[in-house]
Amino acid sequence: MAPVQYPMRMIQRPAVLFVCLGNICRSPLAEGAFRRRAAEVGLCVDADSAGTADYHVGSPPDPRSIAEAQRHGIDISGYKGRQLQIRDFLRFTHILALDHSNLANIQALAPPDATARVGLLMDAVPGREGAAVADPYYGGEENFADTWEDVDLAAQALVAAFTE
Ligand code: 4NP
Repeated sequence: MAPVQYPMRMIQRPAVLFVCLGNICRSPLAEGAFRRRAAEVGLCVDADSAGTADYHVGSPPDPRSIAEAQRHGIDISGYKGRQLQIRDFLRFTHILALDHSNLANIQALAPPDATARVGLLMDAVPGREGAAVADPYYGGEENFADTWEDVDLAAQALVAAFTE
């Protein structure tokens, strides 16, 4: 398994999987922000999100994440929770963790023939390397706004890295 490196120097279409714990709060927002930022510059990408846990398989995003995305004109209400799978390591070019415990769990699952690069999402943002996107699940609306700010910064930085 190779680490994520910047700049990206992509020769294939980026396919990015965003991974948090439950796949209902942070990673759906990260996916939505990345899709939006890529579309804004006409960059063709594949994007998806998943959880390391199976608590919310088949569920829509948390209503507070749906509302936060809606505030930015993005509809994530049709997303469905799913758990990270071994085949994701061969399907995606990048698997990006929202925090350190999820990164460790992703790394522990990686098969020997993984082709995806695995890293921490906020490492994409100059000056925010090593930072986690805090889990807003037990928080309030303001925590979901903070989550949006983090993932949208990362989405912009990823798109810049993929297009430079
Ligand atoms: P997420 O947030 O990992 O950002 O989707 C959470 C969602 C659900 C739970 C924890 C975190 N949970 O314990 O059910």
